[in-house]
Amino acid sequence: MTARLVTGIGELTTWDAERPVLTDAAFVVEDGRVTWWGAAADAPAVDERDDVDGAAVIPGFVDSHTHLVFAGDRAAEFEARMAGEPYRAGGIRTTVAATRAASDDDLDAGVRRHLAEMHRQGTTTAEIKSGYGLTVRDEERALRIARRHTDETTYLGAHVVPSGTDAAAYVDLVTGPMLDACAPHARWVDVFCEEGAFDADAARAVLRAGIAAGLAPRVHANQLGHGPGVQVACEVGAASADHCTYLTDADVDALASSGTVAGLLPGVEFSSRAPYPDARRLLDAGVTVALATDCNPGSSYTSSMPFCIALGVRELRLTPREALWSATAGGAASLRRDDVGHLRVGARADYAVLDAPSAAHLAYRPGVPLVRQTVVGGVPLPR
Ligand code: NIG
Ligand code: FE
Repeated sequence: MTARLVTGIGELTTWDAERPVLTDAAFVVEDGRVTWWGAAADAPAVDERDDVDGAAVIPGFVDSHTHLVFAGDRAAEFEARMAGEPYRAGGIRTTVAATRAASDDDLDAGVRRHLAEMHRQGTTTAEIKSGYGLTVRDEERALRIARRHTDETTYLGAHVVPSGTDAAAYVDLVTGPMLDACAPHARWVDVFCEEGAFDADAARAVLRAGIAAGLAPRVHANQLGHGPGVQVACEVGAASADHCTYLTDADVDALASSGTVAGLLPGVEFSSRAPYPDARRLLDAGVTVALATDCNPGSSYTSSMPFCIALGVRELRLTPREALWSATAGGAASLRRDDVGHLRVGARADYAVLDAPSAAHLAYRPGVPLVRQTVVGGVPLPR
């Protein structure tokens, strides 16, 4: 197998414990993996060279929370929010109706289009949830389509209770026949634990049934107000509690003493004029933080991890380096992956080359398309 030396790197982020970031660096890609990294001057002789001419190179972004299987958009709802309306979970049902009416091909094309958008912005791993079907047939098909594009698929039959359905009967469906149909296509089970969606008991039932079917749990928690979501997530050993907008000290303690990652989704607060979560408070308490887009047509219609990094720095009180860590290694922790989110030896060669001399530019130059090239498994993606 040919080895390729990526060299001339102005700043390389590896997340190695001793040298997380180095200048004048290089690394070697062989068989889709990183096999060496270090000072450019010490680089081994290999068959091919790719000189990036002083650019910064970072691990590809790991977007640990998206809802890409959907049809339609909700621009009118966004406009109403910007004019003072609050975000309401009920808006989800608008997308459910459009998604049910769409063909498989249209849904697949939508996933493809949004993933291409993400790739252009440096994302190399994306989790994708169902949750806009809410029938056995529509949830199964959402996951079947998502599975064509990622291994990180999440069963979110428990997104909201569909209109005209009894809540207890719906939980029985989600934990019974719908789970049976969806589990073969999913790695994760998720629930929207919030007032207006599912309460703590229903969330526990959904997560426990998912675990029994071989899925690993994650939770939408504490987005719209204080509530039990984070506690339930920690109690069941969820990989992540995502949103974490409203946290009590007890919630922060529970996260700090569990293996549950706090997934922060600042696109949501941006798109709903809600207060931003305080990442500094979480980091100071020892909580692992991931940044993700939550890309969906309702609460956060951005596919851009650089945008989330900029918000993370400006609004969540992260340093640029912490924000980059959360968008790469933090996302990997949220998905319990050790092969992505870093560029140490053995990592999958998933990386982004920036039109910038350092990764700090991602937040320093918000809104500027700084990703020159995205590479997955050593293969550059088409622009
Ligand atoms: O993560 N909070 C619940 N689900 C999505 C929103 C979905 C929607 O509004 O369509 C979220 O924000
Ligand atoms: Fe979400």
